[in-house]
Amino acid sequence: MSMKFVLASHNPGKLAEMQSILSGYGVEVVSPAEVGVSLEVEETGGTFGENAMLKAKAYCEASGLPAIADDSGLCVDALNGGPGVYSARYGGEDLDDRGRCMLLLSNLRGQTTRAAHFSCAIACAFPDGRTLTAEGRCDGAIAFAPLGDGGFGYDPLFLLTEKGKTFGQLSPEEKSAVSHRGKALAAFAAELGACLG
Ligand code: IMP
Repeated sequence: MSMKFVLASHNPGKLAEMQSILSGYGVEVVSPAEVGVSLEVEETGGTFGENAMLKAKAYCEASGLPAIADDSGLCVDALNGGPGVYSARYGGEDLDDRGRCMLLLSNLRGQTTRAAHFSCAIACAFPDGRTLTAEGRCDGAIAFAPLGDGGFGYDPLFLLTEKGKTFGQLSPEEKSAVSHRGKALAAFAAELGACLG
């Protein structure tokens, strides 16, 4: 039997990844639009985990369904961990994914230290007040130019050093096997199994 969660996000890239990873664990993820909920939750937390929990609780309350939230971002060593929790808003509201990638490249121009990692915090809130959290991280480096057109966000710039390819050059399955979100969701699924089991 599959269990239904509403995703506390309108990001289609995240929805597709969550659905594909969690379907393997008997978890169905639906968009807020599918259950008639539309919310903008202010991400006022200082950490990925705090922001994920804010979103999960707000969507659970609004929908009456268990809600799952992902808060994630790219942390670049040469930018002291930035853009971090500001990854989605890097450069302001007017930029799109491509614009944010270009801004990142220009802020790293001449910088030879390219180390970076993606972080992902998953939070889940149930209508009875129970919550679950899980985290995942993926280490890599920032490429010198965008490569590949797969994925979303900063994927074309995030170089998986051991594969010599960016996330943008990987298939969805290859990305999920090593990504911050794939790892966090695997940990989440294990916790969910223990909690419901
Ligand atoms: P938020 O979790 O909605 O605050 O947004 C996270 C932001 O981090 C996204 O909008 C992307 O810019 C970036 N991000 C998070 N995960 C990924 C990923 O898997 N690939 C590329 N960019 C990502």
